[in-house]
Amino acid sequence: MAFVTTEQMLRTADQEGYAVGAFNVENMEMVMAVIKAAEEMNAPAILQTTPSTIKYAGLPLYYANVKAAAKSAKVPIALHLDHGNSFSLAMQALRVGYTSIMIDGSHEAFDDNILLTQSVVKACAPSGIPVEAELGKVGGKEDDLDCNDPGYTDPDDAVKFVEETGISSLAVAIGTAHGIYKGEPKLDVERLSEIRKRVSIPLVLHGASGVPDEAVRECIRRGISKVNFATELRIAYSNGIKQFLKDNPDAFDPKKYGVVGMEYVTKVVKDKINVCGCANRV
Ligand code: 13P
Repeated sequence: MAFVTTEQMLRTADQEGYAVGAFNVENMEMVMAVIKAAEEMNAPAILQTTPSTIKYAGLPLYYANVKAAAKSAKVPIALHLDHGNSFSLAMQALRVGYTSIMIDGSHEAFDDNILLTQSVVKACAPSGIPVEAELGKVGGKEDDLDCNDPGYTDPDDAVKFVEETGISSLAVAIGTAHGIYKGEPKLDVERLSEIRKRVSIPLVLHGASGVPDEAVRECIRRGISKVNFATELRIAYSNGIKQFLKDNPDAFDPKKYGVVGMEYVTKVVKDKINVCGCANRV
């Protein structure tokens, strides 16, 4: 099926009241595992890579992997740059063929975030590639960056930011954090509703690993159309491999333990697709 952009995927999700799962992948096995889950659930899916993942294997390898897998997949698949941290990286991803770009200027001052985001939107527009940006700061360990001073998205700023940048989707900070939570996260869902009332483009929830399913569902009811999951997939993949090697200490064929890692990831992704209400939306 098609290798698509996130534009229509997220607009449809927004209109129909569900969210598309966006899953961080680190290697070929995780690409295969996510796409298998999406096919089994008959759900569209977004695969995404962060700058540290790109540093590990390079944009062309992830692109080639996802493009090839998407071509034979039975469901629509998009490849998204997650937390693009510079204009230059965003342009490299665009040129390689990523079908969706995030530019994350949330660590900059508000006006600088607008300028950076505007420049990426302008550069992506001729190819019809949608841009996600972030306003406010999602806490926790985001890729190689520790964010110890999280800040909530201000609804007035959100209106101005969306108008001035022309982005396709907005990542909001409402109390989630990247990585493992120490306690149960307290989400400011009223703030989310307020932003939703005033901003008409699809909204994105980052840091969803460890957020209780019911809290994710509540965010979707209040207007989230894309939910990002990374840490739980990394844990699942590693746990699958650890378990296999524990049971088979003499194993040395990566295919043997790779299969188990993939099974664990597929299971988690299927659960998340259910939570997002995205099953059978193809
Ligand atoms: P988690 O690692 O908490 O799932 O966050 C994922 C994310 O938001 C990637 O951008």
